[in-house]
Order: sequence, then C-alpha cells, then structure tokens
Amino acid sequence: MERISRGLEDVDIKWTRLTTIDGERGILRYAGYSVEDLISGGASAEEIQYLFLYGELPREGELRDFVSKVERGYRVPAHVTSAISNLPRSSDAVALQMGAFASLAASERFKWDKTTDRDVAASVIGNMLTITADVYRHVNGLPLVEPDPRGGYARTFLRAALGREPTDDESRAMNAALILYMDHEVPASTTAGLVVVSTLSDIYSGVTGALAALKGPLHGGAAEAAIAQFAEIGSEDAVERWFQENIVTGKRRLMGFGHRVYRTYDPRARIFKEFAERLAPRNPDALRYYRVALRLEELGIAHFGSKGIYPNTDFWSGIVYMSMGFPLKNNIYTALFALSRITGWLAHFIEYVEEQHRLIRPRAVYTGPGERKFVPISQRS
Ligand code: CMC
Repeated sequence: MERISRGLEDVDIKWTRLTTIDGERGILRYAGYSVEDLISGGASAEEIQYLFLYGELPREGELRDFVSKVERGYRVPAHVTSAISNLPRSSDAVALQMGAFASLAASERFKWDKTTDRDVAASVIGNMLTITADVYRHVNGLPLVEPDPRGGYARTFLRAALGREPTDDESRAMNAALILYMDHEVPASTTAGLVVVSTLSDIYSGVTGALAALKGPLHGGAAEAAIAQFAEIGSEDAVERWFQENIVTGKRRLMGFGHRVYRTYDPRARIFKEFAERLAPRNPDALRYYRVALRLEELGIAHFGSKGIYPNTDFWSGIVYMSMGFPLKNNIYTALFALSRITGWLAHFIEYVEEQHRLIRPRAVYTGPGERKFVPISQRS
C-alpha cells in the first residue's frame, strides 16, 4: 500500500517550461513572467496564448500572424453549433462545451505533427471562443451571434457572448481573467487531458477529457460553487451564522478555499479581488455577494489560515464575471474558466506529445480475493 500516492500528491508526471508555482510563497509565473507583472504591464490574452505555445512573447508581426490563425478558428462547423443548440437549455455549460469538442473530435482529421500542432492549437483557441459564446447564449435562450473579431480576444468574446459592445472596464477584466486562469501546471483537468493525448488520441478528445475533469466542484466547478454559496448566504449579516452552522461544524467545505499546492493566499485570487472591488458596484447582486465574500473571507482565514487553507482563485472570480454581466446559471463561470484554461491544456499536450511522450499507464495494488473457481449461477447458493 505504501506504493500508492493517493491523489498523485507530489508526483511529478512531466517537466515543463510553461508554468511554475511556489505554493509556500504564493508565486505564479508563466515562462518566468509573474502574473502580477503581466496584468499590471497590460499584456493581452493573445500575447500570453502565444507565449504558452511558442515559449517567448511575440513581436508585432508574429502576434498578427498568430491572431489571424486564432480568428480562423472562430468559424466552427454547423454540426458543432447544433451539438450545443440541440441539447436542453438547462444543460451544464461545461458539458455543452464537451459536446461541442466531442463533435469536433468526430469530424476533424488530426494527427500530431510538430510542423502543424501550434497552428491547430491556435484555431482550437478560436473554436473555444465561439463555442463558449454559443453555450452562454444557448443556456440563456438568446439567439447566437457570430464573433466579430475586433479589439482582441477578450473584447471579441464579450461582444459575441453578451451581444453588445463591452465597456473598456469589462474588456480589461475579461482580459485579466483570461490570463489569470490560462495555466496552472498539471491540475486534474490538465492531467486528465494528458492521459487522453498520451494514447495519441486527437487534440479535440484531449480537450474533451480535460473539460470533464474541470467540471467537478473540487476543481473548476468551484468557480460557480463559491458564488452559489454567497447567494445561499444572501447578505453580509447572515455570514457569521452560516459559517458556524456549515463550516465550523465541518458539515460542508468552504468553496473557493484551499488548494493542493498553495499554502498561502493564491496570487490570482488577490488580483481577481481587486477587479471585484472595482466592478461589483455596477451590479446589485455582485455588490451584495462581494460584501458577503469579504466577511466570509475574514472568517475563513481566521478559521483555516493556520492549516494553510486560504482563498483560491475561484473565491473571487465569480463576482468579476457577474459584474461583467454574466448571470449565475448552469455552471457558466466554470465554462468561462475553461475558455482561459484551454491554452494551458493545449500547450501541455504539445509539450508532452512532442518532447516527452510516453503512454500514461499507472498500476493499481490488488487487494481482492486470491484465485477462485467460477461457479455457474444455477449452482450458487
Ligand atoms: N473547506 C473545509 N475544509 C477544507 C477545505 C475547504 N475548502 N479545503 C481543505 N479542507 C480540509 C479537509 O477537510 C481536510 O481536513 P482533514 O485533514 O481534517 O480531513 C484537509 O483540509 C485536507 O483536505 P484535502 O481535500 O485532502 O486536501 P487537498 O489538497 O486535496 O485539497 C481541495 C484541495 C481544492 C480539494 C480542497 O481545498 C477543497 O475541497 N476546496 C474547496 C473546493 C475548491 O475551492 N476548489 C478549487 C480549487 S483551486 C482552483 C481550481 O483548481 O479550480
């Protein structure tokens, strides 16, 4: 039994040049650049998408070329749109993304090839923009809007999803959210996708597998679960009692708190919190949840801080999404998380398949009965 690493905790499954996390000091860097530096320096989501796929920040011409490849992906086959719109409006948003990617896996011919992998990845990043906007509009009963590629990935997405021109504040917040969620080394979703592509299955199936793992409440599902908790609490003055009854008693987990790697405040949560503070006053629900979250965070840190359990990125991101105009519905905040994370998934898939490929096939320690003789059902007592 001592051979087993439960939850693969502290097991290294690949090397990477993409992302490094210092969980003790709360540091997150993409290819050496801290997320704080990228956000305060005004990096665009598409520059960082390029950084993940090519290892360096792009020059202007390189970025233009990359963006045009992403934009080609905005056009998705009609059967992908149907895969979304044929499902009930009550469907989980991430499951709808999975359906769309599974239908791309069905129709697209893909073969791993160093000379084309990054071009395909760029178009998959484009596919994801249209798929996520379509998913959002479908679950909200709105007619689909074809993306109009003006003003960068964040602005194009908001325009296609919300069906209106986003404000500068909204675009800045969306751009930051895209960067903050873009990669996080090998969490459950990335690992699930790596298992898929380690069989040399196609890139669309890899994304489908990653989405399936992201959906759960212990991972990306927490983006929605955290704000659902704020909604359940309802108001600032109800926080203390709710916390006593549900968290101090150990009945429930505090969603948006705790992390397998961070033992301190998640650096992404700090930035999301700043955006939440700035944007929440635009939306009465977001403002109410912001106030609930502030008090809940205080109680949570006082209760859990000594155990190294602090707010993670999902604690604050939902309020930012809500302030931008996305209502809490059908796991859509987790689908927005996926819109960002797809770049990290693709970059890890490429790094793994191209440079360090080996079929991922672990073992299990058998603990069942020894050899037994089969008895036909009619003779079993
Ligand atoms: N609320 C209450 N107790 C907690 C929490 C929490 N949020 N997080 C950890 N604990 C406790 C847990 O009950 C356990 O206690 P004990 O040792 O007494 O049984 C101890 O801390 C260790 O928990 P664990 O689940 O074994 O630790 P882990 O390293 O697997 O935890 C986690 C990581 C994310 C699963 C966990 O912190 C959690 O469930 N958090 C809530 C869900 C959440 O916010 N997930 C988002 C993660 S970050 C972004 C992302 O990846 O999407």
